[in-house]
Amino acid sequence: MINNKKTIFSGVQPSGILHIGNYLGAIVQWVEMQNQYNCIFCVVDYHAITVKQDPKKFSQQILDVVKIYLASGINPDKSIIFQQSDISAHTELAWILNCVAYMTDLNRMTQFKEKAEKNKETVSVGLYDYPVLMAADILLYNTDIVPVGEDQAQHVELARTLAQRFNNQFGETFKIPEVMIKKIGARIMGLDDPTKKMSKSATSVANYIALTDDPIVATKKITRAVTDSGSEIKYDKKAKPAISNLLTIYSLLSNKSIEELEIKYQDKGYGVFKKDLAEIVGNFLSQFQKKYYSFKDNDIREILQQGSKLVEPIAFKALKNVKEKLGLL
Ligand code: TYM
Repeated sequence: MINNKKTIFSGVQPSGILHIGNYLGAIVQWVEMQNQYNCIFCVVDYHAITVKQDPKKFSQQILDVVKIYLASGINPDKSIIFQQSDISAHTELAWILNCVAYMTDLNRMTQFKEKAEKNKETVSVGLYDYPVLMAADILLYNTDIVPVGEDQAQHVELARTLAQRFNNQFGETFKIPEVMIKKIGARIMGLDDPTKKMSKSATSVANYIALTDDPIVATKKITRAVTDSGSEIKYDKKAKPAISNLLTIYSLLSNKSIEELEIKYQDKGYGVFKKDLAEIVGNFLSQFQKKYYSFKDNDIREILQQGSKLVEPIAFKALKNVKEKLGLL
């Protein structure tokens, strides 16, 4: 990657379910970036094992994330796609950064607090340390921009902090990455509770629309989605969190602005609005899944191997530089 383009790095965990929040909040913006930047998209399998995964299903889940990338429009001829655990430099740098990170840095991470709350006794050290591994992912590739959903902004901020601290202590080493968050869609909320983000670890399947949901099931989820009091279709996050969330999804999937949609549904109630949105979501999923199910596992493995070959020299060169700075070499 010897050119003047900036480098983009991002990733998704292969934890089984990917939902339209992952797609609209993160992956969609990657697709647009491919022509302008050097893009590296990782399947972050070591992040996923911070919570229990079923070993019988896990290798397939890894391949399925790549299929999601491809069905979304990521082109492996333009972007590098690889599997995190293929490149041991990620965990090596994570260890080094563990020795630069303070407990107080990690104690501030809100996502850990939320996740640990559910499972206080058995929460893994890996889950606590996961933002440091994420910092290693980003910093290994001289990343300029990290496009993610809103929930990951604090983790990217930590990557910046650790890079700056390392540079101060050991001399200029890491580029300081910038986070990129979409103006609309960076936090898609749960359909069953619009005060909480749409999440794959939600207790109810009514919370999310999985990218692999049967379109008929998905349309039912939209029809049953929680709404706000009143009947007006209006974007107002505070007074109308549920309708605002549905308007966001509608707008992003239809390429119509929220203002346009407010006008379109001015004199109509929630019923008509949801029926139309259900159709849009159903059509989107049908198109998406046609592509998703067309990919063969062996071709996906090939793409991952090619990707690893391309990133390996970059990652190990960066790691060597870090080791030299520390006096390890
Ligand atoms: P993960 O796998 O939880 O989510 C993947 C991407 O989807 C975004 N996202 C959302 N966006 C909008 N609304 C939602 N409800 C929603 N839920 C999830 C996430 O913000 C993310 O961009 N730690 C990361 C993966 C990671 C990573 C990295 C990302 C590991 N290393 C390095 C960037 C750079 C994660 O768990 O994402």
